Amino acid sequence: MPEPSSDAPVTTRDFLALKRAGKKIVAVTAYDALFGRLVDEAGVDCVLVGDSVNQVLCGEPSTLSATLDQMIYHARAVRRGVTRALVVVDLPFLSYQVSREDAVRNAGRVMKETGAGAVKLEGGAAMADTVRALVEIGIPVMGHLGLTPQSVHAIGGYRVQGREGADARRLESDAEALESAGAFAIVLELVPAPLAAAISRSRAVPTIGIGAGPGCDGQVLVLPDLLGLNDAFAPKFLKRYASLADDVRSAVGRFGDEVRRGVYPDAEHSF
Ligand code: KIV
Repeated sequence: MPEPSSDAPVTTRDFLALKRAGKKIVAVTAYDALFGRLVDEAGVDCVLVGDSVNQVLCGEPSTLSATLDQMIYHARAVRRGVTRALVVVDLPFLSYQVSREDAVRNAGRVMKETGAGAVKLEGGAAMADTVRALVEIGIPVMGHLGLTPQSVHAIGGYRVQGREGADARRLESDAEALESAGAFAIVLELVPAPLAAAISRSRAVPTIGIGAGPGCDGQVLVLPDLLGLNDAFAPKFLKRYASLADDVRSAVGRFGDEVRRGVYPDAEHSF
Protein backbone atom coordinates (compact mmCIF):
# COMPACT_ATOMS: atom_id res chain seq x y z
CA MET A 1 0.00 0.00 0.00
CA PRO A 2 1.58 3.32 -1.03
CA GLU A 3 2.41 5.92 1.57
CA PRO A 4 1.34 9.46 0.78
CA SER A 5 4.01 11.26 -1.22
CA SER A 6 4.48 14.95 -0.59
CA ASP A 7 2.02 16.11 -3.23
CA ALA A 8 -0.23 13.13 -4.07
CA PRO A 9 -3.75 13.54 -2.68
CA VAL A 10 -4.22 11.69 0.60
CA THR A 11 -6.81 8.89 0.51
CA THR A 12 -8.47 6.83 3.20
CA ARG A 13 -6.16 3.93 2.23
CA ASP A 14 -3.19 6.11 3.13
CA PHE A 15 -4.55 6.38 6.67
CA LEU A 16 -4.19 2.61 7.09
CA ALA A 17 -0.76 2.72 5.49
CA LEU A 18 0.37 5.43 7.90
CA LYS A 19 -0.81 3.40 10.88
CA ARG A 20 0.91 0.27 9.61
CA ALA A 21 4.11 2.26 9.08
CA GLY A 22 3.88 3.62 12.64
CA LYS A 23 3.56 7.19 11.36
CA LYS A 24 1.23 9.64 13.10
CA ILE A 25 -1.71 11.12 11.21
CA VAL A 26 -2.10 14.90 11.46
CA ALA A 27 -5.55 16.45 11.21
CA VAL A 28 -6.99 19.90 11.85
CA THR A 29 -10.38 21.45 11.29
CA ALA A 30 -11.00 24.17 8.73
CA TYR A 31 -14.18 25.88 7.66
CA ASP A 32 -13.23 28.00 4.64
CA ALA A 33 -11.01 28.07 1.56
CA LEU A 34 -8.40 30.43 3.04
CA PHE A 35 -7.56 28.32 6.08
CA GLY A 36 -8.09 25.14 4.05
CA ARG A 37 -5.29 26.27 1.75
CA LEU A 38 -3.00 27.34 4.60
CA VAL A 39 -3.31 24.09 6.57
CA ASP A 40 -2.95 22.05 3.37
CA GLU A 41 0.25 23.96 2.56
CA ALA A 42 1.42 23.21 6.12
CA GLY A 43 1.27 19.52 5.21
CA VAL A 44 -1.59 18.09 7.27
CA ASP A 45 -2.95 14.70 6.21
CA CYS A 46 -6.58 15.48 6.91
CA VAL A 47 -8.77 18.58 6.99
CA LEU A 48 -11.93 18.02 8.99
CA VAL A 49 -14.86 20.29 8.21
CA GLY A 50 -16.20 19.84 11.72
CA ASP A 51 -19.65 20.80 12.92
CA SER A 52 -17.63 22.64 15.58
CA VAL A 53 -17.97 25.46 13.02
CA ASN A 54 -21.34 26.09 14.63
CA GLN A 55 -19.69 26.90 17.96
CA VAL A 56 -16.29 28.35 17.12
CA LEU A 57 -17.26 30.51 14.13
CA CYS A 58 -21.02 30.96 14.54
CA GLY A 59 -21.15 31.46 18.32
CA GLU A 60 -23.78 28.77 18.98
CA PRO A 61 -23.67 27.02 22.38
CA SER A 62 -23.34 23.53 20.83
CA THR A 63 -23.04 21.69 17.51
CA LEU A 64 -26.66 20.55 17.61
CA SER A 65 -28.14 23.32 15.46
CA ALA A 66 -25.67 22.82 12.57
CA THR A 67 -27.53 21.97 9.36
CA LEU A 68 -26.65 19.85 6.36
CA ASP A 69 -26.73 22.90 4.08
CA GLN A 70 -24.37 24.73 6.44
CA MET A 71 -21.91 21.82 6.41
CA ILE A 72 -22.08 21.59 2.62
CA TYR A 73 -21.48 25.34 2.31
CA HIS A 74 -18.34 25.18 4.48
CA ALA A 75 -17.10 21.94 2.93
CA ARG A 76 -17.36 23.35 -0.61
CA ALA A 77 -15.28 26.32 0.50
CA VAL A 78 -12.64 24.16 2.21
CA ARG A 79 -12.48 21.86 -0.80
CA ARG A 80 -11.58 24.82 -3.03
CA GLY A 81 -8.56 25.56 -0.85
CA VAL A 82 -7.28 22.00 -0.33
CA THR A 83 -5.43 20.09 -3.01
CA ARG A 84 -3.61 17.36 -1.05
CA ALA A 85 -5.12 16.54 2.34
CA LEU A 86 -8.12 14.25 2.75
CA VAL A 87 -11.21 16.41 3.35
CA VAL A 88 -13.65 14.82 5.82
CA VAL A 89 -17.04 16.40 6.51
CA ASP A 90 -19.09 16.05 9.69
CA LEU A 91 -22.63 14.82 9.19
CA PRO A 92 -24.65 17.16 11.43
CA PHE A 93 -27.11 16.15 14.13
CA LEU A 94 -30.26 14.46 12.78
CA SER A 95 -28.88 14.06 9.26
CA TYR A 96 -28.04 10.36 9.84
CA GLN A 97 -29.77 9.18 13.04
CA VAL A 98 -33.40 9.03 11.88
CA SER A 99 -33.06 6.30 9.26
CA ARG A 100 -30.46 4.59 7.10
CA GLU A 101 -32.16 6.02 4.01
CA ASP A 102 -31.73 9.52 5.41
CA ALA A 103 -28.09 8.83 6.21
CA VAL A 104 -27.37 7.55 2.71
CA ARG A 105 -29.18 10.46 1.06
CA ASN A 106 -27.54 13.11 3.24
CA ALA A 107 -24.02 11.64 3.17
CA GLY A 108 -24.48 11.24 -0.58
CA ARG A 109 -25.34 14.93 -0.90
CA VAL A 110 -22.16 15.81 1.01
CA MET A 111 -20.03 13.69 -1.31
CA LYS A 112 -21.75 14.89 -4.51
CA GLU A 113 -21.94 18.57 -3.69
CA THR A 114 -18.61 19.15 -1.93
CA GLY A 115 -16.05 16.82 -3.51
CA ALA A 116 -14.96 15.69 -0.03
CA GLY A 117 -13.26 12.33 0.42
CA ALA A 118 -15.23 11.05 3.44
CA VAL A 119 -17.84 11.84 6.06
CA LYS A 120 -17.67 11.59 9.85
CA LEU A 121 -20.49 10.59 12.16
CA GLU A 122 -20.81 10.13 15.92
CA GLY A 123 -21.70 6.92 17.75
CA GLY A 124 -20.57 3.31 18.13
CA ALA A 125 -22.43 -0.01 17.90
CA ALA A 126 -25.77 1.78 17.50
CA MET A 127 -24.46 3.41 14.32
CA ALA A 128 -22.68 0.33 12.91
CA ASP A 129 -25.45 -0.57 10.43
CA THR A 130 -25.53 3.02 9.19
CA VAL A 131 -21.76 3.04 8.74
CA ARG A 132 -21.99 -0.28 6.85
CA ALA A 133 -24.74 1.08 4.57
CA LEU A 134 -22.61 4.12 3.68
CA VAL A 135 -19.43 2.11 3.16
CA GLU A 136 -21.31 -0.38 0.95
CA ILE A 137 -22.29 2.37 -1.48
CA GLY A 138 -18.77 3.76 -1.57
CA ILE A 139 -18.83 6.51 1.05
CA PRO A 140 -15.83 6.29 3.40
CA VAL A 141 -16.78 6.90 7.03
CA MET A 142 -14.73 8.17 9.95
CA GLY A 143 -16.28 7.24 13.30
CA HIS A 144 -16.30 9.39 16.45
CA LEU A 145 -16.37 7.95 19.99
CA GLY A 146 -15.86 9.15 23.54
CA LEU A 147 -17.22 12.63 24.06
CA THR A 148 -19.64 12.88 21.15
CA PRO A 149 -20.69 16.55 21.13
CA GLN A 150 -24.02 15.90 19.38
CA SER A 151 -25.04 13.92 22.53
CA VAL A 152 -23.87 16.58 24.98
CA HIS A 153 -27.29 16.80 26.66
CA ALA A 154 -27.47 13.05 27.23
CA ILE A 155 -23.86 12.98 28.46
CA GLY A 156 -24.46 15.92 30.81
CA GLY A 157 -21.67 18.19 29.64
CA TYR A 158 -18.30 18.13 27.88
CA ARG A 159 -16.67 15.51 30.13
CA VAL A 160 -14.03 12.82 29.81
CA GLN A 161 -15.64 9.50 28.80
CA GLY A 162 -14.66 5.91 29.67
CA ARG A 163 -13.26 6.53 33.15
CA GLU A 164 -15.35 3.72 34.70
CA GLY A 165 -14.83 0.04 33.85
CA ALA A 166 -18.21 -0.50 32.16
CA ASP A 167 -17.90 2.73 30.13
CA ALA A 168 -14.37 1.79 29.08
CA ARG A 169 -15.54 -1.66 27.92
CA ARG A 170 -18.40 -0.05 25.97
CA LEU A 171 -15.93 2.26 24.21
CA GLU A 172 -13.75 -0.73 23.30
CA SER A 173 -16.70 -2.65 21.86
CA ASP A 174 -17.96 0.48 20.06
CA ALA A 175 -14.56 0.81 18.38
CA GLU A 176 -14.68 -2.85 17.39
CA ALA A 177 -18.21 -2.40 15.97
CA LEU A 178 -17.14 0.62 13.89
CA GLU A 179 -14.11 -1.21 12.54
CA SER A 180 -16.25 -4.27 11.63
CA ALA A 181 -18.73 -1.97 9.89
CA GLY A 182 -15.94 -0.61 7.68
CA ALA A 183 -15.02 2.75 9.23
CA PHE A 184 -11.57 3.77 7.96
CA ALA A 185 -10.63 5.74 11.11
CA ILE A 186 -12.08 6.59 14.50
CA VAL A 187 -11.87 9.90 16.36
CA LEU A 188 -11.47 9.41 20.12
CA GLU A 189 -12.47 12.57 21.98
CA LEU A 190 -11.86 13.16 25.71
CA VAL A 191 -10.87 9.59 26.54
CA PRO A 192 -8.32 8.68 29.25
CA ALA A 193 -4.90 8.21 27.62
CA PRO A 194 -4.37 4.55 28.71
CA LEU A 195 -7.78 3.52 27.34
CA ALA A 196 -7.25 5.38 24.04
CA ALA A 197 -3.83 3.74 23.70
CA ALA A 198 -5.32 0.29 24.36
CA ILE A 199 -8.07 0.84 21.75
CA SER A 200 -5.47 2.10 19.26
CA ARG A 201 -3.31 -0.98 19.80
CA SER A 202 -6.19 -3.41 19.47
CA ARG A 203 -7.72 -1.94 16.30
CA ALA A 204 -6.40 -2.19 12.74
CA VAL A 205 -7.95 1.15 11.74
CA PRO A 206 -6.23 4.29 12.97
CA THR A 207 -7.53 6.32 15.89
CA ILE A 208 -7.35 10.11 15.79
CA GLY A 209 -7.26 11.60 19.27
CA ILE A 210 -8.44 14.90 20.67
CA GLY A 211 -7.91 15.02 24.40
CA ALA A 212 -7.11 11.30 24.27
CA GLY A 213 -3.38 11.24 24.97
CA PRO A 214 -0.31 10.31 22.95
CA GLY A 215 -1.17 6.66 22.25
CA CYS A 216 -3.57 7.43 19.40
CA ASP A 217 -2.47 6.91 15.79
CA GLY A 218 -3.03 10.58 15.00
CA GLN A 219 -4.17 13.84 16.52
CA VAL A 220 -6.76 16.43 15.56
CA LEU A 221 -7.30 19.91 16.95
CA VAL A 222 -9.87 22.58 16.18
CA LEU A 223 -7.93 25.16 14.17
CA PRO A 224 -9.03 28.37 15.95
CA ASP A 225 -8.10 26.68 19.26
CA LEU A 226 -4.67 25.56 17.98
CA LEU A 227 -3.99 29.05 16.63
CA GLY A 228 -5.02 30.79 19.85
CA LEU A 229 -7.79 32.63 18.00
CA ASN A 230 -10.51 31.16 20.21
CA ASP A 231 -8.80 32.37 23.37
CA ALA A 232 -11.90 32.02 25.56
CA PHE A 233 -11.56 28.22 25.33
CA ALA A 234 -8.80 26.59 27.38
CA PRO A 235 -9.36 22.87 28.07
CA LYS A 236 -6.51 20.88 29.65
CA PHE A 237 -5.69 18.98 26.44
CA LEU A 238 -5.31 22.08 24.27
CA LYS A 239 -1.88 23.35 23.32
CA ARG A 240 -1.86 26.70 21.53
CA TYR A 241 0.76 26.99 18.80
CA ALA A 242 0.15 30.73 18.20
CA SER A 243 -1.56 33.67 19.88
CA LEU A 244 -3.55 35.00 16.94
CA ALA A 245 -6.29 36.53 19.10
CA ASP A 246 -3.66 38.91 20.51
CA ASP A 247 -2.35 39.57 16.99
CA VAL A 248 -5.86 40.35 15.71
CA ARG A 249 -6.62 42.76 18.56
CA SER A 250 -3.24 44.45 18.20
CA ALA A 251 -3.35 44.72 14.37
CA VAL A 252 -6.92 46.01 14.25
CA GLY A 253 -6.20 48.36 17.17
CA ARG A 254 -3.18 49.81 15.31
CA PHE A 255 -5.23 50.17 12.11
CA GLY A 256 -7.96 52.03 14.04
CA ASP A 257 -5.40 54.25 15.69
CA GLU A 258 -3.71 55.16 12.39
CA VAL A 259 -7.06 55.86 10.68
CA ARG A 260 -8.14 58.11 13.53
CA ARG A 261 -4.82 59.99 13.50
CA GLY A 262 -4.91 60.37 9.68
CA VAL A 263 -1.68 58.35 9.34
CA TYR A 264 -3.28 55.67 7.15
CA PRO A 265 -3.57 55.73 4.18
CA ASP A 266 -0.38 57.65 3.42
CA ALA A 267 1.16 58.41 0.02
CA GLU A 268 2.68 54.93 -0.22
CA HIS A 269 -0.77 53.31 0.06
CA SER A 270 -2.65 55.75 -2.21
CA PHE A 271 -3.03 56.05 -5.99
O1 KIV B 1 -16.51 19.09 14.94
C1 KIV B 1 -15.29 18.92 15.16
O2 KIV B 1 -14.47 19.83 15.00
C2 KIV B 1 -14.86 17.61 15.59
C3 KIV B 1 -13.48 17.50 16.17
C4 KIV B 1 -13.47 18.03 17.54
C5 KIV B 1 -12.97 16.11 16.11
O3 KIV B 1 -15.61 16.68 15.55
